[in-house]
Amino acid sequence: MENISKSFAGVPALKSAQLEAAKGEVHVLMGENGAGKSTLMKILSGIYQKDEGSIFLDGKIADIKSTKEALQLGISMIHQELSPVRAMTVSENIFLGKEPCHRFFGVVNRKKQRELTEALFKEMDISINSDLKMEDLSVAQMQLVEIAKAVSYDSRIIIMDEPTSAITGKEVAKLFEIIEGLKSKGIAVIYISHKMDEIFQIADSITVLRDGQYIETRVAKDFDQDTLVRLMVGRTISELFPKINSQKGEVTLEVENLTQKGKFSSISFKVRKGEVLGFAGLMGAGRSEVMEALFGLSKIDSGRIKVNGKEVRIKSPADAIRNKIALITDDRQMKGLNLKASVRDNITLVNLKKFTRFSQMLQLEKENRTADEEIKKLRIKTHNRNQIVETLSGGNQQKVVLSKWLLNDPEIIILDEPTRGIDIRAKAEIYKIISVLAEQGKTIIMVSSELPEIIGMCDRVIVLYHGRINGEFNREQFDQEMIMNAAMGSAAKQSIIEN
Ligand SMILES: Nc1ncnc2c1ncn2[C@@H]1O[C@H](COP(=O)(O)OP(=O)(O)OP(=O)(O)O)[C@@H](O)[C@H]1O
Ligand SMILES: [Mg+2]
Repeated sequence: MENISKSFAGVPALKSAQLEAAKGEVHVLMGENGAGKSTLMKILSGIYQKDEGSIFLDGKIADIKSTKEALQLGISMIHQELSPVRAMTVSENIFLGKEPCHRFFGVVNRKKQRELTEALFKEMDISINSDLKMEDLSVAQMQLVEIAKAVSYDSRIIIMDEPTSAITGKEVAKLFEIIEGLKSKGIAVIYISHKMDEIFQIADSITVLRDGQYIETRVAKDFDQDTLVRLMVGRTISELFPKINSQKGEVTLEVENLTQKGKFSSISFKVRKGEVLGFAGLMGAGRSEVMEALFGLSKIDSGRIKVNGKEVRIKSPADAIRNKIALITDDRQMKGLNLKASVRDNITLVNLKKFTRFSQMLQLEKENRTADEEIKKLRIKTHNRNQIVETLSGGNQQKVVLSKWLLNDPEIIILDEPTRGIDIRAKAEIYKIISVLAEQGKTIIMVSSELPEIIGMCDRVIVLYHGRINGEFNREQFDQEMIMNAAMGSAAKQSIIEN
């Protein structure tokens, strides 16, 4: 791709960007949130049309006008925000638009479709029932189905836009295995990710974009993390984890023997004002489920929840909000955002009550002002407050979620994977926000699959394994290996912590 430029409503997203990928390589595309990575790849896969520049395939100009044309040329893309047809089955999704038909009747041959899916899964060593509805799959499984779908097109170029943002451990290893297989078939994989360790593990070469511009391409071994960050950000980041040792106050949240059948059992913990409590564990360990229950999104079977020493019943998010609990989840599309609404509306939506005591004119003005302040405070990269959230880059959508909840002034803030899909500078910014909130006396609970972030930011960490607490460590005892072991189910040296 050469000299690619693209503007949205007059605002440039790409300014003369370029990318060159070779057969059988993993080419990683890096850059901060909003750098233009997804846009460049959407141009390659025919979703967007470039304003300027040229695309060459095997040295020949390729004029890609639609996703259909891209697919015909062997280019397929797995998107950052998965969008399967939820009511369809796994195999229907994979063969959407290319269904195998009966020879004479022209109707879909379901049996054949299922067989093809099963063969594909077998080849890729994926075990998912092809008759399941997409909506019944976990995000990780959906991710695998999307990958299988891309492979099923006989692609020469497969673009993966943050494919591991919703998967961990074993599943990532699985994906990397699949990628190795693709490489050995001569397929070029263009891979977008913010996860440094992953990138260095699989990249053959790396291209950095900044502010829509091409910065540099090198073979991966000629890069180190510091150089990469400097090229991405334009300067070095002095401090990734700005942990402040804040004063701990009284216990704000106390949970006793919380149990939800099949999900988690006997979860007990206390957390104080000014404390950052981490929850570590593997995918499926039950961390998000516990948080959802605390926020009233699901019902507990037994157990007690106390807020500020008083027992409370949390049966719905409204109950939780009334108790000044906020849940900021990892699932931006499902729970956090109204994708079709503007940045302003998303930020001010849950807080409408805050604004209704004003006359309509004043209210509008106040909402606008608040939105602008938040955009500035969190450095949300948006054209203006009226941009539709769906068109923001992934990381910037996450910032909108954060600001929306923080504006509601909660006391107990639960963050579920707060920096998923967020670039390194924005991560540092979010960590800083977390530290400052703790210093202000808020109670922070942070679910994270990134150990460096847990170790860097938390005062204490609880490790879940199969829905149970399998270890608890405080800051002085933090040790990556011990936490990992507890997450994998080994009997952790359980430390009793003074509460
Ligand atoms: N459909 C659209 N309409 C308007 N602006 C858009 C649209 N799509 C992208 N943009 C803008 O283009 C810029 C680049 O966005 P892009 O999604 O390519 O970033 P990214 O590098 O993929 O970031 P992230 O790491 O956060 O996913 C952003 O400022 C974004 O707001
Ligand atoms: Mg993106």
